[in-house]
Amino acid sequence: MLDKGRLPRHVAIIMDGNGRWAKKQGLSRVKGHNAGMEAMKEIVRASSDLGIQYLTVYAFSTENWKRSQEEVSGIFGLLVKFVKLDLRELDEKNVRVKVLGDYSVIPAAAKKSMDETLETTKDNTGLQFNIALNYGSRAEILRAVNRIQADSLAGKRQGPVDEAEFARYLYTGDENGNVPDPDLIIRTSGEERLSNFLLWQAAYSEFVFTDVLWPDFTPEVYESLLEEYQRRDRRFGGRK
Ligand code: FPP
Repeated sequence: MLDKGRLPRHVAIIMDGNGRWAKKQGLSRVKGHNAGMEAMKEIVRASSDLGIQYLTVYAFSTENWKRSQEEVSGIFGLLVKFVKLDLRELDEKNVRVKVLGDYSVIPAAAKKSMDETLETTKDNTGLQFNIALNYGSRAEILRAVNRIQADSLAGKRQGPVDEAEFARYLYTGDENGNVPDPDLIIRTSGEERLSNFLLWQAAYSEFVFTDVLWPDFTPEVYESLLEEYQRRDRRFGGRK
């Protein structure tokens, strides 16, 4: 049974397997992503209903640009559709949406939808839903280093950098309200890799993997993985 008093504060998800799901059904990859988006919506709802404070999803990595033009534009088209259909519900559920990553370079219509979403939901106080878009963790870390250097040269900061200050320069830092490190990272579809996702932030995260392909990921599967998390013994390098 899920203990609602001991939920992870922050869950991060690598939503993998849309392509394989589509192939199995004889559908196009974009149809797979569409089914993935429906699954994602259910998990946002479930997270909000459970009272989880932060949910981060890996929607598009800095490496995903290597996919076909058709697939890339299909994914961003879905983002526009998602915002059109679901912004109202997100707002009603008091969800605050944030983006991790440099989304200034995504197609114009998708950027406009994202801007509208961020603006509409910015004062909400429920679940914070972080969408990692054009996100890569190494790029994020280098960006932090370069921003620290720029601030040092401008006299805005001085002296050695400590962990807390470094964390504030990441996408999960000040600009997005200092997101706590993920307690739990889930990856679907049987792959067991981090794929350049939250490398700094994952230092003490629990990892849970499932063979379920992302479009088949339901709130029931989600709850079973949250239960698995609750069976783990987190020591953060110390002893009990
Ligand atoms: C991984 O499956 C999934 C992605 C790269 C894209 C995730 C996108 C969505 C869930 C829908 C779009 C939602 C937003 C907010 C943009 P894969 O294609 O790598 O699957 P495969 O490994 O089976 O090929």
